[in-house]
Amino acid sequence: MSAPDPTPVTLPEIQASKERGEPLVMVTAYDYTTALLADRSGVDLVLVGDSLGMVVLGYESTVPVTMDEMVHHTRAAARGCRRAFVVGDLPFMSYQVSAEDAVRSAGRLVKEGGADAIKLEGGREMLPQVRAITAAGIPVMAHLGLTPQTATRLGGYRVQGRDAAGARRILEDALLLEEAGAFAVLVECVPDRLAGLLRRRLRVPLIGIGAGPDCDGQVLVFHDLLGLYDRFTPRFVKRYADLGAAAVQALSAYADDVRGRRFPGPEHGFTIPEAEMDALLRTLEDE
Ligand code: KIV
Repeated sequence: MSAPDPTPVTLPEIQASKERGEPLVMVTAYDYTTALLADRSGVDLVLVGDSLGMVVLGYESTVPVTMDEMVHHTRAAARGCRRAFVVGDLPFMSYQVSAEDAVRSAGRLVKEGGADAIKLEGGREMLPQVRAITAAGIPVMAHLGLTPQTATRLGGYRVQGRDAAGARRILEDALLLEEAGAFAVLVECVPDRLAGLLRRRLRVPLIGIGAGPDCDGQVLVFHDLLGLYDRFTPRFVKRYADLGAAAVQALSAYADDVRGRRFPGPEHGFTIPEAEMDALLRTLEDE
């Protein structure tokens, strides 16, 4: 495998990938180590997704994730990215109330978290936020289709755009968001051919998750892809490794070794010459 090109990925490069018809690769990462691994693998974009609420923090959904948690994790992940373009996710209620809130929250992810861009969920109702954040100089990725922060309103985690009205709304929203300045649109859980239509109609890249192959790029959650989280695995996930099982096996071997007094061995300790140690211990015993 050749080493990935170390030149940092830029916005013009992301746009040019669409124009060249070269798929963009995006994966989530939530801390220094996961981001370093993603970056070394040569992915183009790292998303510090609010999915960290489930896979890192153990919440039931993304709803409880706070701005401080996102800043903390974005800062750690950004330190691990030399090449990948870092997108920080705005958590629920950090941008919905007003455009002013949205700019302030986006600013924190960039200024304190080191993100290159932010992502937010929602369609036409988010146009003022997208315009204001873009005007403040922060690139925005829009997220349409299944929007997990408001999944309750959508009737749960289900495919979106299945009927003409729903599909039309997603298409119109995508075009409006592009017009408002979004540099890319992420679409989650929509029928493959609707994604294909979106890709053809949008000038900016369309990144898909559960949206089929006819997108300009794909994104997956790090823990899903590597088999590190098995509480819930959506149908659209392809698991490339079973690191969760490998980790449990390794940790059990460690536990067995400690209980069986096989770890640590002499090679893991710090032994000094016997005579020197004897003298040292005698001194301590005399005290
Ligand atoms: O938070 C996240 O990880 C996401 C992806 C599922 C796209 O939004």
